[in-house]
Amino acid sequence: TWTPESMIDLAVERIRSQVGDSRLLSAVSGGVDSSVATALAARAVGDRLSAVFVDHGLLRKNERRYVEKAFTPLMGDRFVCIDASEWFLQGLEGVSDPETKRKVIGETFIRVFENHARSLGKIDFLVQGTIYPDVVESSAPERNKAARIKTHHNVGGLPEDMNFKLVEPLRYFFKDEVRMVGEALGLPSELVWRQPFPGPGLAVRCLGEITAERLERLRNADAIFTEELTASGWLKRSATGEDDRAAQAFAVLLPVRSVGVMGDQRTYQEVVALRAVTTEDFMTADWARLPADLLGRVANRIVNEVSGVNRVVYDVTSKPPGTIEWE
Ligand code: XMP
Repeated sequence: TWTPESMIDLAVERIRSQVGDSRLLSAVSGGVDSSVATALAARAVGDRLSAVFVDHGLLRKNERRYVEKAFTPLMGDRFVCIDASEWFLQGLEGVSDPETKRKVIGETFIRVFENHARSLGKIDFLVQGTIYPDVVESSAPERNKAARIKTHHNVGGLPEDMNFKLVEPLRYFFKDEVRMVGEALGLPSELVWRQPFPGPGLAVRCLGEITAERLERLRNADAIFTEELTASGWLKRSATGEDDRAAQAFAVLLPVRSVGVMGDQRTYQEVVALRAVTTEDFMTADWARLPADLLGRVANRIVNEVSGVNRVVYDVTSKPPGTIEWE
């Protein structure tokens, strides 16, 4: 019978027989898949695993803290966070085209990662959080044309000349199984239940030019939205049921300004769009029918608490024809 514990034992056995006495490196993205894969590898090989989390400065509020909280107890100083935000922000300066943003971020990530890997000496294996739907999608491109509309490279996509062999302990797992295994491994439930988050992070939600100031605005608006959704139970929290709850929800900072009034003062500030979708597989999606009073409360809080924003709109486009992200 399927229990998380039996799956863990099996995965640990498989990793051990694959890697022998070799050393492993894992790139943690903050997402559930790479986190669970890393935790499994840590259980399998102990201190022969190193893990790295690259902070590209495009993370959601508290994201880095969640990841540190999960991995420091598990791995001690074999887990490192590299703050490369300056590097990424510099590369993104003046860039507003969505695909160029992805390209800059992917390339910068590789350079940071390579640097770190070199500093560790000889590493034979790279741990990746590939799950079964990823395998199916890449082997059935015809059925999944939509997946190619955006490059969707995970920021973990690495150059071929790096010569790592891959360890993919989640290759035959579905998302809900990954989450159950993650909880059984003792990862914090905030991490296990976080929504999917694109590799390029807030860069593809900060439309137009990316600056530290605009990122901070977006991060704060997004945190308010998430907080209110969580408090009111409108974020989906389990694999089955709750079909009207948001499977993914976030704020987007638009590259336009609009006129408003605050007190007796005219304002001319930026616009935040809220996006919340219901979906099973993220290939198609519908906009979430969030209660009007919840939306109103979020809009009020954002305009009052986030400086530089004077208007909030809600996205009521399904996928297709829209995509979930705006870029
Ligand atoms: P779209 O916007 O194509 O998104 O409807 C579908 C799902 O994929 C995520 N997404 C990405 N994930 N790198 C990623 O790792 C990317 O460049 C990327 N673009 C979109 C999106 O958040 C949604 O869950």
